[in-house]
Amino acid sequence: MNFITPLLGLLIAVAAAAPVRAEVDVAAASTDGVRHFNADEIPTFAINDEGAVDWPTFSGFRRYHAECHVCHGPDGEGSTYAPALKNSAIKMDYYDFVGVVASGKQEINSSSNQVMPAFATNPNVMCYLDDIYTYLRARGVEAIPRGRPAKRVDKSAEYTAAEKACMEGS
Ligand code: HEC
Repeated sequence: MNFITPLLGLLIAVAAAAPVRAEVDVAAASTDGVRHFNADEIPTFAINDEGAVDWPTFSGFRRYHAECHVCHGPDGEGSTYAPALKNSAIKMDYYDFVGVVASGKQEINSSSNQVMPAFATNPNVMCYLDDIYTYLRARGVEAIPRGRPAKRVDKSAEYTAAEKACMEGS
């Protein structure tokens, strides 16, 4: 009689009953002078001791409200038409998130006809996508409240150079 198999079954059942939401790693572990990254080198936000957000997060707030909020609602809160991106930025893999923005997504069925446009050729979105993502992650874990961030760190020289290179397509 093999007693290991039922034991494994029990362990799996216990694991399945545990909360599925893994801890989201938003802690800034490194920076390249342009923006911050977590331990997995995924873009993340940083908030200093004075409560000022880093420039990319502030930029993300502005770009989100220029390009995305018409459909997705202010502050990443969602609308009747499109999902709350503050949640998507937490639950979706970074690369999936970027993929949807670049390629778009279309859900057509009998009850809905919703279209997420493809932004791959729009530099005003693609050059700032990591900013939008970090802003939404900060909203998702409620590191920042709704509305315009009250305090921000100035734009760095590295950020200015990276922005220029991206907008010029080099
Ligand atoms: C014209 C309206 C519209 C605009 C503008 C728009 N979206 Fe969307 N977006 C949608 C709709 C509708 C969906 C849901 C599509 C579906 O589920 O098939 C969606 C889905 C998404 C998803 C997938 C979310 C999930 O949880 O599955 C991401 C990520 C996303 N949008 C990012 C963005 C970003 C970033 C911007 C701004 C650069 C943006 N969208 C601008 C309409 C829009």
